[in-house]
Amino acid sequence: MIRKRKESEHMSSLFRKKDINDLVKHASPLKRTLKTWDLTFLGIGAIIGTGIFVLTGKGALTAGPALALSFFMAAICCGFAGLCYAEFASMAPVAGSAYTYSYIAFGEIIAFIIGWDLILEYALGAATVSVGWSGYFVNLLSNMGIRIPTLLTAAIGTTPGVNTIFNLPAFLIILVITWIISIGITQTKRVNDTMVLVKLAVIVLFIICTIWFIKPQNWHPFSPFGWYSYHNGTASGIIPAASIVFFSFIGFDAVSSSAEETINPSKTLPRGILLSLLISTILYIIMTLTMTGVVKYTIFIKYLNAPILAVLAKTGQTWLSIIVSVGAILGMTTVILVQLYGQSRISYSMSRDGLFPKFFGQVDQKHQTPFKGTWFFGIITALASGFINLNILSELVNIGTLTAFILVSAGVLLMRRTHPEIHRGFRAPGVPITPIIAIIFCITLIAGLNWETWLRFVVWLAIGMAIYFGYGRRHATIKDKKGE
Ligand code: ALA
Repeated sequence: MIRKRKESEHMSSLFRKKDINDLVKHASPLKRTLKTWDLTFLGIGAIIGTGIFVLTGKGALTAGPALALSFFMAAICCGFAGLCYAEFASMAPVAGSAYTYSYIAFGEIIAFIIGWDLILEYALGAATVSVGWSGYFVNLLSNMGIRIPTLLTAAIGTTPGVNTIFNLPAFLIILVITWIISIGITQTKRVNDTMVLVKLAVIVLFIICTIWFIKPQNWHPFSPFGWYSYHNGTASGIIPAASIVFFSFIGFDAVSSSAEETINPSKTLPRGILLSLLISTILYIIMTLTMTGVVKYTIFIKYLNAPILAVLAKTGQTWLSIIVSVGAILGMTTVILVQLYGQSRISYSMSRDGLFPKFFGQVDQKHQTPFKGTWFFGIITALASGFINLNILSELVNIGTLTAFILVSAGVLLMRRTHPEIHRGFRAPGVPITPIIAIIFCITLIAGLNWETWLRFVVWLAIGMAIYFGYGRRHATIKDKKGE
């Protein structure tokens, strides 16, 4: 009898929840200044980066010219998940994003899993973007006659036939940005806005200069691998490519975390999320159609580090490749900044809740930042970017983020049932259909990833569970409520 009671107490404590009313009460009042276009710029700043500048190469090899459809598919997935994010954000306008939302909706263990997923999204996301950054940086330097030893330009086994051991530029850019965040310089709105304009200008310039070189015969066959095909251990087709380029849309969730600083969030937040997704999607689709129209998609095998340069080599516009490289480098730098910042705040929130050791949450007196935690993850991220290749990193990030999206969407469904009384600044339209479609798309995209990625993700979750049961569960600051 006693053992049974103990077991049931044990189970209920795994699912102990944060109280949304407490959270809202304790949320610090911030000044509401952000409008729709501010949020849209914020979103684009976090969204456009390595996905379009680098992963399009691998995407084109996987889907052929139908890559444009893969982008569309990933965009639809993010659009539906984005509406769910917006509802959650407007209900619990507090820091911590999906991690905090799920602490309210599902309880502790799921929150831990999401937090752990978000670390994957942000830390390894930053590592992925830094590897993309490094590809363009190395190219730019070599255009200027400066050569970095090939051995130090990529992780082992990145390019078949080329001997590489470590990605030094990627490693260093992560350390530099970690330092910037650790001393408390966060990106100001003005810097972000400038970078976004540079990114957009470079993409538009690229399209205007190269669209005239499209040869429609390069689009035939448009979809050489169909929706999904599997040969020699590799998945190809529109769905597997969508699973890869899904990475290009990651970052729009940054918009939802500004709920507290937004004027009239119920309207502004979903508009900001959807507009930034819409603008990125339109640019991505035009850009990929242009790329696969100017060169045959198979050419990208030689340009996996910087596929855009394949197009410029074909059109002979080498002057443009320098401008595009500088734009891509600047654009990717802001994405790394947003991701590393997000990472440091998630581990800070988890530490404050007792799920991670105090070390990660200690705020440095001088800089007023979680200094030690920022450096801890910064160094791990830098090592990951030095030693692991881009495809492994990006696919792991995708599976982690897709899992977080599934949980957020399911959370919206659940909270509508369990907490219908809570005020929602924004209500996702079409519930329950909207979250259900989001979940179906996310599962489809997870299915399009290869089994090695699933396996790596399971190992990642297992490490997370070891930390939770070994530490977090016993140190969590919320206590079990009697009679729950
Ligand atoms: N969406 C971001 C990028 O493509 C993470 O770099």
